Amino acid sequence: MDRINLYWKNATAEAVGDKHGVTEKELKQVGPKIKSIHKQMAEERKAGKLRYRDLPHDEDMLDAVNREVEHFRDRCEVLVVLGIGGSALGNVALQNALNPYTYNLLSDRQRPGPQLFVLDNVDPDQIKAVVDFVTPKIRKTIVNVISKSGETAETASQFILFRDLLQAKVGKKYKENILATTDPAGGTLRKICDEEGYRTLEVPDGVGGRFTVLSAVGLFSAAMCGIDIDALLEGARDMDKRLKDDDPLSNPASMLAAVHYLLNEKGKSISVMMPYSTALYSLADWFRQLWAESLGKQNGLTRKNVFAGQTPIKALGTTDQHSQVQLYREGPNDKVITFLEVERFAQKLAIPKTMEHVESLRYLAGSNFQTLINSEKLATEYALLESQRPTMTVLFPQISPHTVGQFLYLYETAVSYMGGLLEINTYDQPAVELGKQATYALMGQAKYEELAKKIRPVIKRESKYLV
Ligand code: PA5
Repeated sequence: MDRINLYWKNATAEAVGDKHGVTEKELKQVGPKIKSIHKQMAEERKAGKLRYRDLPHDEDMLDAVNREVEHFRDRCEVLVVLGIGGSALGNVALQNALNPYTYNLLSDRQRPGPQLFVLDNVDPDQIKAVVDFVTPKIRKTIVNVISKSGETAETASQFILFRDLLQAKVGKKYKENILATTDPAGGTLRKICDEEGYRTLEVPDGVGGRFTVLSAVGLFSAAMCGIDIDALLEGARDMDKRLKDDDPLSNPASMLAAVHYLLNEKGKSISVMMPYSTALYSLADWFRQLWAESLGKQNGLTRKNVFAGQTPIKALGTTDQHSQVQLYREGPNDKVITFLEVERFAQKLAIPKTMEHVESLRYLAGSNFQTLINSEKLATEYALLESQRPTMTVLFPQISPHTVGQFLYLYETAVSYMGGLLEINTYDQPAVELGKQATYALMGQAKYEELAKKIRPVIKRESKYLV
């Protein structure tokens, strides 16, 4: 089977020493706690409280996505996704992992779907560039606005702009170019949809944004762009079967969590994800949100001021060997590095033998890029081992919807175990709220006038600090 695996030997004490690696004793000690988290998660799932775990099995959701893809596909040359955080990172990760690097530059004939732009920022220059690009083909542009609440300032402002553009250029039928993915029942965007009559898909109820990639949130743009979402979900379901295993040592999600947890206890407060594949690089972005928002918590379930969390960082192999590895080997030993390794790339890509006459380059002649990138990964792993730096590897037999589906489901579940070990609420993000409210206040929303008064003196720029 095309299954991904976790290799964790190089995070053990045997590989990097007791101070920096996990010992057998520590793993044994954490075992009962993991078993109890496993049991609790199974119970929560049964009670409908862990809905993200059931998304790959949700046939109604899949039917709804396919229906919308059928509806829009033939008249869509450009798809613009408006969303941020959990409403965007999964879309980007799927697109970059499973479509060619040059996807948007391919001709309409070569591309399996529309050109795709995921606007997950409110950078005016970026937005204007996309507006200018789509304006001449506005009738063939579909806007998928994704927001559970509809009140997220970034997505709401983009939506106002694109709705206006569509109204101005398409006229009365502008609504036919909008698909809203939002809360099934409540929220500002749902209300707008009801009033204006857009087609809609659902952000699943009870699932936090960072766990929605395998719902309509991530699947619509993926399927529109020709990605096999059936295989993606099948991958997730196959991983789900493996994760039913209650032996912590053979369950890859609980192993991932256990190693991260034990190393965090040993001062590895940073978790680097380093794919040796450009296609998989955006999975590291997706992982950063999952790990950061889920685990970074001031208060625990029973104790206050625990300040839990592990800082997720992304790095790209081989690129960041020439940027980060100096620090990773000789800087503070405060990181656990997880490589993503691809055993079989779609292309091996031969390195021509034409420069055999240059003695120092002869070793490259007749080899191929797959061998080179994977040798560089092993070389970096070895170099880190020499410096007693713990690493793990997620092995992808190849990059496919099936393996990416396994990966997403593996990490979503791993973060649940990790949250259980840290004894925190994995599914909330209370600290995000203040920044949102401060934005509303600074943008003049009447309800936040008092907050605005409080903020202004604090953020006032003082010239004595300007150099
Ligand atoms: O993970 C999360 O919950 C967040 O990143 C949200 O997805 C993000 O803030 C966007 O929220 P909304 O979908 O309500 O616009």
